[in-house]
Amino acid sequence: MSIAHDGAKRTANGPLLAWVDEMIALCQPERVHWCDGSQEEYDRLCQEMVEAGTFIRLNPEKRPNSYLARSHPSDVARVEDRTFMCHRNKEDAGPTNNWMDPDEMMGILRDRFSGCMRGRTLYVVPFSMGPIGSPIAHIGVQITDSPYVVTNQRIMTRMGQKVLDVLGADGAFIKCMHSVGAPLAPGEADVPWPCEPEIENKYIAHFPETREIWSYGSGYGGNALLGKKCLALRIASNMAREEGWLAEHMLILGLEGPDGHESYIAAAFPSACGKTNLAMILPPEGMKGWKARTVGDDIAWIKPAADGTLRAINPEAGFFGVAPGTSYDTNPMAMETLKANCIFTNVALTDDGDVWWEGMGPAPDHAIDWQGKDWTPESGRPAAHPNSRFTAPASQCPTIDDHWEDPEGVPISAFLFGGRLSRTFPLVLEAFDWKHGVFLAATMGSEATAAAIGQAAIRRDPFAMLPFAGYNMADYWQYWLDFGTRGYKLPRIFRVNWFRKDENGKFLWPGFGQNLRVLEWVIERVRGKAGAAEGPFGLVPRFEDMNWEGLDFDRETFSHLTEVVRAEGLAEVADLEGYFAQFGDRLPAEMERQRLALKERLEAAPEVWRAEAPEGAET
Ligand code: OXD
Ligand code: MN
Repeated sequence: MSIAHDGAKRTANGPLLAWVDEMIALCQPERVHWCDGSQEEYDRLCQEMVEAGTFIRLNPEKRPNSYLARSHPSDVARVEDRTFMCHRNKEDAGPTNNWMDPDEMMGILRDRFSGCMRGRTLYVVPFSMGPIGSPIAHIGVQITDSPYVVTNQRIMTRMGQKVLDVLGADGAFIKCMHSVGAPLAPGEADVPWPCEPEIENKYIAHFPETREIWSYGSGYGGNALLGKKCLALRIASNMAREEGWLAEHMLILGLEGPDGHESYIAAAFPSACGKTNLAMILPPEGMKGWKARTVGDDIAWIKPAADGTLRAINPEAGFFGVAPGTSYDTNPMAMETLKANCIFTNVALTDDGDVWWEGMGPAPDHAIDWQGKDWTPESGRPAAHPNSRFTAPASQCPTIDDHWEDPEGVPISAFLFGGRLSRTFPLVLEAFDWKHGVFLAATMGSEATAAAIGQAAIRRDPFAMLPFAGYNMADYWQYWLDFGTRGYKLPRIFRVNWFRKDENGKFLWPGFGQNLRVLEWVIERVRGKAGAAEGPFGLVPRFEDMNWEGLDFDRETFSHLTEVVRAEGLAEVADLEGYFAQFGDRLPAEMERQRLALKERLEAAPEVWRAEAPEGAET
């Protein structure tokens, strides 16, 4: 059965037209729609979803042109257990990825996708990751049966006809195949959030050799908005290695000091470490003349330019942020971004038709929770799902950088890597050199629970890429090591830890806007203007190396915040041995060399090392 559609009028790209026709034959949809990306198309799809019960239109006076969606309770987050990297060779996926043979996986998927769009519309969604036509950008085409996905993709990417125009007759694109996996029998009524409810029937499969993504069974977030984690990280990390660039799980932030000097940093943090807050940081009182500007909050694509600088773009056009905990106290710029034109998923609905989530501010007396049930503060359960989200246009962020859509990208001066660790690791460290920086990034992590603060409890999240590196993690480290030998103007590498606690479990560092003081030290190090002490873990600021204007912070607390306890450091060295062992002979020899060098430095250090000695002195 063939279905008429206007693909041939929209593009002359033969491979794209052939692929769409093949997928129509496989999925057997009722209708086909090529998305043009217009406002009118967006409004029409939203209205259709309001009528179908998928979307609730929010009070236009409080939250103009914004909607609330509630997902099926089984479909609320990325499904890492069902995410596969289908390299030809299992070793190329490595010990930290799920793997299945590509032919075997494709057999399963063809079965699943066969007839999976019956009774539904197949949408063709052309999108650009990065400013359209940028030499750093890449084009994907997502086929999906979810209008929720289409509307989210219009916010999260540059989407529609203009992408097909740039793709032309012979441009390359990444195939992104998606279905919620809920075909409708003739006459069967639809549900507000169709999906495949059984977790073992969901598949988020990546085929790096053919640069394809097939996602089945989920309509939520990274499982379904295939430009984000699937394309921009898992497939793109493979492309980047082949082509000589970097696809990283990093925010991009522009900083301008009182002397007018501008620079950009890129920073990687695991989930729940305040990444969105840092991407939209506001200078604290006392740091007069400082400006911080947002380029991206989640992903950076970084390519070397002709002059050797590394230039980064944010491949996304929107923020898909975690709602709970976002407030005018923690992230005022995010709150301003969310004032209109947003899609909210799994947050609470207030009686006046607005949204609410835990941590936003005072709880309403009554609301409808994320599952559509009555809720009061006494209900004893959260009103918003902990992974509830906002989808918001980046252009609405008041601190968005003037260059955020510059097709050439912005030059990166420093890479920051951070985790959530209550002890052992100083507030900030500068790596001795690139190789040491790769070691610091490869060994980063967060504590598994707040209660267990022993070294063994660190859950490593190398480069914050554990769920996103699309090939063997050890090869990824080797690639980073090799990247440092190509003669580029390399950014300096730093590791930060906002979360160190004292013996009573109290945070030693105020965090949030005050983190800009650490960024100032980072920038001034890059400029050769700030001092540091050489410690066993790396270079650490002394009290006098930091700007304390407007903040009453004492020397003694700072000393605890930056000290290195030898026994804790040695426990880290021992823990790393087992961590590295899982990579077998793919582990770069440099990693073990770095581990042993750290051990030597610790053995030579005092029982408690403090950043008091001047730079370069024996410690
Ligand atoms: C995200 C994530 O949603 O990293 O950005 O999980
Ligand atoms: Mn992320």
